[in-house]
Amino acid sequence: MLSVTVAQASSQAPRLNLVMRQKLQASQHLLGALVTSRWGELERQSLVLQRVTLDPAWAVLAEPEYARQTKAYVTALDSLVEAARRRDLEAAPQAYAAVTMSCVQCHRFVARRRLARGLQEPAHD
Ligand code: HEC
Repeated sequence: MLSVTVAQASSQAPRLNLVMRQKLQASQHLLGALVTSRWGELERQSLVLQRVTLDPAWAVLAEPEYARQTKAYVTALDSLVEAARRRDLEAAPQAYAAVTMSCVQCHRFVARRRLARGLQEPAHD
């Protein structure tokens, strides 16, 4: 009973790819900003990462669990934005780690759904 509506592959795929590419770029800038204490950049890139979740193409799975994973990700980014605004050297790396965990956890969830539906997994190993 999986209510999976993978973004209607044909129409949504290019948009989804764009969103995911923006996400990857912003996340790469994030680490650079963190380790060099560029707080304005850290805040900006965190906000970019939050904004991508508002794109309709983000809603890949119509499942409560996907919404929950998205919320965990947005919340972790809230903490990172806050830490950047306070220029908090302790909280910023912790929030960054929490953001990274939320990336990994959602990806694991999406991969499990893929398996459950018997779809081909992209070759990762
Ligand atoms: C709430 C779920 C969710 C979160 C959180 C999330 N992603 Fe994703 N991500 C996806 C989905 C869904 C796709 C595209 C579907 C697919 O092909 O598996 C994707 C695709 C990607 C891709 C492209 C992968 C490929 O094979 O082309 C990258 C890179 C990526 N995400 C990085 C990240 C990073 C970095 C973070 C954290 C900053 C993150 N994601 C957070 C759901 C998420």
